[in-house]
Amino acid sequence: MDKLVVNGRKRLVGEVAISGAKNAAVAVIPAAVMAKGVSVLENLPDIEDVKSLCHTIEKMGGKCKYLDKHTLEIDCSADMDYRATFEEVQKMRASYYLLGALLARYGKAEVAMPGGCNFGKRPIDLHLKGFRALGATVVEEDGMVKAYADKLVGTSIYMDQVSVGATINVMLAATMAEGVTTIENAAKEPHVVDTANYLNMMGANIKGAGTDVIRIKGVSELKGAQYTIIPDQIEAGTYMIAAAITGGDVLIKNIIPKHMDSLTAKLDEMQVKVVEGDDSIRIIADTPLKAVNVKTMSYPGFPTDLQPQIAALLAVCNGQSVLTENVWENRYQYIEELRKLGAQVHIDGRIATIDGVPHFNGAAVSATDLRAGAAMILAALAAEGETVIDGVRYIDRGYEDVEFKLQALGADIKRMVI
Ligand code: EPZ
Repeated sequence: MDKLVVNGRKRLVGEVAISGAKNAAVAVIPAAVMAKGVSVLENLPDIEDVKSLCHTIEKMGGKCKYLDKHTLEIDCSADMDYRATFEEVQKMRASYYLLGALLARYGKAEVAMPGGCNFGKRPIDLHLKGFRALGATVVEEDGMVKAYADKLVGTSIYMDQVSVGATINVMLAATMAEGVTTIENAAKEPHVVDTANYLNMMGANIKGAGTDVIRIKGVSELKGAQYTIIPDQIEAGTYMIAAAITGGDVLIKNIIPKHMDSLTAKLDEMQVKVVEGDDSIRIIADTPLKAVNVKTMSYPGFPTDLQPQIAALLAVCNGQSVLTENVWENRYQYIEELRKLGAQVHIDGRIATIDGVPHFNGAAVSATDLRAGAAMILAALAAEGETVIDGVRYIDRGYEDVEFKLQALGADIKRMVI
């Protein structure tokens, strides 16, 4: 299994271009299955999760062809299997979007239970509740979720909890239901909007994505479409923090600065200079950083997917910070790894109290999940001496060319292929 070897305390300077958004790509690719036609998806990130989804779609009878490293043609003109039962599916969480997509196209779907990053309970009850409200019969048996409907009928669905996955999945199914569906208390994340925009390009009639209420007027057919995926908010945030944690000066390009507002506000509070351009942000960190309190929330709040990364930064700020994880019940497993580098953190349930230390010291650590892995890289960049990071496969699921992008900014980071 590959490892990353980092020699820290090098100031990052230069420019980095951000790739397409993983969490948009993993919703848009399954949505492509809903059209009996050809879609061309541009600005896809070159990451393992996208490759896994392509394999899955090919095994189901679709055709995936890369036109270049970031452009994928997906041809689902032929009849596809409504079952996705194989091992790949279980590896990634986002395979659950095949349920909504196949249910919309065929009125039936059988998909292996989702896997993905492991940080505590990750239920999909709200997805299934939404499908049932649209008229589907849903059963969970033998590690599979099976959903069937003679026809889906639009209805009003209130989400008990704000859920990105349930919002997108129900939106997918409702796109081809009879009549109008409203999803209330919907998630507002940029990737929810991106998926709705793609569906609308395919001929769907979806309004309100990005607000609390999404209104979907069902259509009977979708066509393939050409679509460009939005930039990755979380990758952008990770590089913003990389600049800050190394006292660097980095221009982060190909982003939507508005998506970064919650992080920008925090970095500003910490006395990092943040200069916004039209599609870029420059981070200049040339003074000691102040401790701040951070609470994760659904968009436009501070993203849980940047929680481990900001924790790494807070761990080397001046003073005490309080971090509250409001989205996932158990997303602090990585703290044990951060402690190996010298972080002083006390965990009490969802609250992490972090006492800043002057710097980390290199050690052998593991990436316990994707964003935890990103946090390890960030901490290693700020650590005195050598850090060896294990579990790099998690990082490869969501970060394109991570070591090359960091090397170009002056980091001393290498991959050890084992
Ligand atoms: C998405 O997961 C992201 N994954 C996650 O990013 C991200 O952490 C999460 O949204 C929150 O922003 C993808 O987009 C593929 P949720 P998702 O449904 O959709 C509870 C990363 O690192 N809930 O918004 O699975 C749930 O337990 C990944 O890129 C239910 O109770 O998350 C959680 O507390 C990791 N029942 C909260 O809602 C349900 O049916 C939010 O989960 C669904 C969710």
